[in-house]
Amino acid sequence: MTPEFIIIHPQARPYIAHVQLNRPKELNALNLQLMQELRDALKALDEDEAVRVIVLSGNDKAFAAGADIKQMAGRTAMDMYNIDQFSTWDAIKKIKKPVIAAVSGFALGGGCELAMLCDMIVAGETARFGQPEIKIGVMPGAGGTQRLTRAVGKALAMEMVLTGKFITAEQALQVGLINRVVPVELYLEEAFRLAADIAQLSPLAVKMAKESVLRAFDSTLEEGLHFERKNFYLLFASDDQKEGMQAFMEKRTPVFTGK
Ligand code: CAA
Repeated sequence: MTPEFIIIHPQARPYIAHVQLNRPKELNALNLQLMQELRDALKALDEDEAVRVIVLSGNDKAFAAGADIKQMAGRTAMDMYNIDQFSTWDAIKKIKKPVIAAVSGFALGGGCELAMLCDMIVAGETARFGQPEIKIGVMPGAGGTQRLTRAVGKALAMEMVLTGKFITAEQALQVGLINRVVPVELYLEEAFRLAADIAQLSPLAVKMAKESVLRAFDSTLEEGLHFERKNFYLLFASDDQKEGMQAFMEKRTPVFTGK
């Protein structure tokens, strides 16, 4: 079925897929259907051998202004428990290929959390990041208190979560929340450029490297180092390792096949 709230370009660039959130009138508010469509699209692209990197964007005005408040407003705690809206987020967390968020405009609440769920963030200079849930009587529920704190540290995370204040793209860059800021007309192109840098590398090594970096967030140093070493050794079972090292010695550009 064609999705209603997202647009999928499986080959936006060679080896690069682009998924665009597309509920512009609601500033891409993340309702349940949108998140299910996004989960399904990302899972399919993760399994597609012609795709090595995924770029996720909204539009110039909003990456996403959060979970859909109108959809949630009347729910009870038991509704929330039964609907289990964050199960789609858990599935997205398991995507193995790199996902780059290309953010312009609002990335608020669940929108900021979705950007943080991605592996890197490229922003246009008008982007605004925030966790304003506190202003509507709740708090972040899709990782905001955890991923934001790990990214920017306690002081700023506490201030953003407790006041709901937004930060600019430039501030987000300074505190290490995002990777780069570019003029607004270039944010998507810049995300594709970053994706292209990665797409020319060994897709196996990229996936295992992503997995290992993420492991740093929920393991002790010792466990993380053990995990890293296992993946490092495992890559010696790949053709890409042979090709990469051989090409280095022959002073030529490697051709990676993902085998
Ligand atoms: N849910 C549902 N609808 C939303 C929405 C959201 N999160 N954000 C914006 N919209 C809707 C507005 O209701 C409005 O719809 P109508 O035209 O039908 O009234 C439309 O999008 C345009 O929004 P505004 O007129 O408000 O646009 P603005 O430019 O004046 O303000 C804004 C933009 C500052 C982003 C403002 O819309 C806003 O504050 N939005 C809510 C942000 C928020 O609180 N996000 C957190 C949600 S909770 C959450 O995300 C929980 C979690 O952890 C997962």
